[in-house]
Amino acid sequence: MTIKRRELLKYAAIAGGLLVLPAGFQRIAHAKDPESPAGNPFTLPFRVPPVLQPVRSDNTSGSNGLQDFEGTDYYEIAITKARTQIIPGKSTEIWGYGGIFPGPTIKQKRDRQSVVRYINKLDVPMVIHLHGMAALPEYDGWAHDAVEPGYYKDFIYPNNRPATIWYHDHALHKTAPNVNMGLAGMYIVYDEYEQNLNLPSGEYDVPLVIHDKIFDSKGQIVYDDEGQKSLFGDVITVNGVAWPRMEVARRKYRFRVLNASVSRSYRLKLSTGDEFIMIGTDAGLRSAPVAVDSFRISMAERYEFILDFSKYPIGTKIVLENESPDNNEDYEKTDRIMRFDVVRDAEDTSEIPSTLRYVTPVSQLIPQAVRTREFRYERTGGQWVVNGNTWNRYESDANPQVGDVEIWTLYTNSGGWFHPIHVHLIDCQIIDRNEQPPFVYEEGWKDVIYVGGNESVRVVGKFGPHTGRYMTHCHNLVHEDHDMMRAIQIGNNSTDPALVAPPKPLPAPPL
Ligand code: C2O
Ligand code: CU
Repeated sequence: MTIKRRELLKYAAIAGGLLVLPAGFQRIAHAKDPESPAGNPFTLPFRVPPVLQPVRSDNTSGSNGLQDFEGTDYYEIAITKARTQIIPGKSTEIWGYGGIFPGPTIKQKRDRQSVVRYINKLDVPMVIHLHGMAALPEYDGWAHDAVEPGYYKDFIYPNNRPATIWYHDHALHKTAPNVNMGLAGMYIVYDEYEQNLNLPSGEYDVPLVIHDKIFDSKGQIVYDDEGQKSLFGDVITVNGVAWPRMEVARRKYRFRVLNASVSRSYRLKLSTGDEFIMIGTDAGLRSAPVAVDSFRISMAERYEFILDFSKYPIGTKIVLENESPDNNEDYEKTDRIMRFDVVRDAEDTSEIPSTLRYVTPVSQLIPQAVRTREFRYERTGGQWVVNGNTWNRYESDANPQVGDVEIWTLYTNSGGWFHPIHVHLIDCQIIDRNEQPPFVYEEGWKDVIYVGGNESVRVVGKFGPHTGRYMTHCHNLVHEDHDMMRAIQIGNNSTDPALVAPPKPLPAPPL
């Protein structure tokens, strides 16, 4: 159950000013900063992160073990401090990929390989993970594979399936503060098949990176995880702008929404009550579109949807709202995300095809499973644990062989927390949640599974294509840091990923 600030004040008043809450309210909502300079929602213009251009491209074909590729694009991203405007009238210091928040979007074709050079110009170690990419262990952002200040590392990515994925920091015990400072960006893999579907494209294919923040009275970013529990901001940003207002045309748009928040989940809803046409999950397109009134999205999940603004007259204002799911801390304005203002007509030749992409049915995967495992996510003794264990780089909780299909039960035994569980390397599908079918928008391939309070979720996935050691963890980054993270090992490759392709000191040779 969530609690609104106004209700809280009411209860606080009843209790004579003491924060005594009735049973059922697990979390205490308080004002982050009564002098918050965040201003009013829907005053700042919407913006889209720039698309990163390669510094060089070649057409040397090859094979990366997963597929043949036609050539390679080389990108470079320096991680730096910078100042930017997130809230009105304030210049906020961030840590940014390319000096911006969110970082630049990489758009890559499935048939090409990418090499991304990350240069650490900060004064703390960085670990870079491309969430949703089947990279080799040494390019996956193993939490100990730190790029120290003054070092760089070239990451190789095979781009073996089209999907909306993202890159973010993964430094051991520091992921939450680092991402809170702005270290997240989107990475889109596309292919010809998808382009030929004639979905809205170009300027009508729009990323929405949602991230809540806390600001001090000077407009600077605050890190407050309430004693290693969770970080809940009172300001909602989209693409690095507080509650932006986006001018839209009377036509269809494709939106790719990523929840890049540290600890906050959302239930998205339109103020008109109109539906979202859901077309994609974490790992790419669904098999067919489906309409929903609202959907919940936990940290690191991605959903893609179409909104058709042609049914609204010019002048209509539509608010993207947040019906906060259980176990989040609400503030006065966290019930809103952004606003769409319909301002013009536009031609629209895009379509929403009735079938999108083939997705192996769950019923076909289940009989292939060779074993089952259980993972219990809980808080004990002031720590976040998985089956009672914390992170240990030398241990693993599972050792499937390449090609093994497994069924995992992910569960919490408390109503007080939710845990979005991420398994690196693989995609999986939800079989059921508390013995009920998954929500309709969750059908399809995913790499983050929303495990709500007292929920038990069964998933099925196939391990591979690589061997080696990978992480699995809660994507509440505070939980991940303290220490709800474990390793798994695929096949017999037990090499520590940090030893294979270590970062190198600057200066770097040309890419
Ligand atoms: Cu999005 Cu292990 O991370
Ligand atoms: Cu968690």
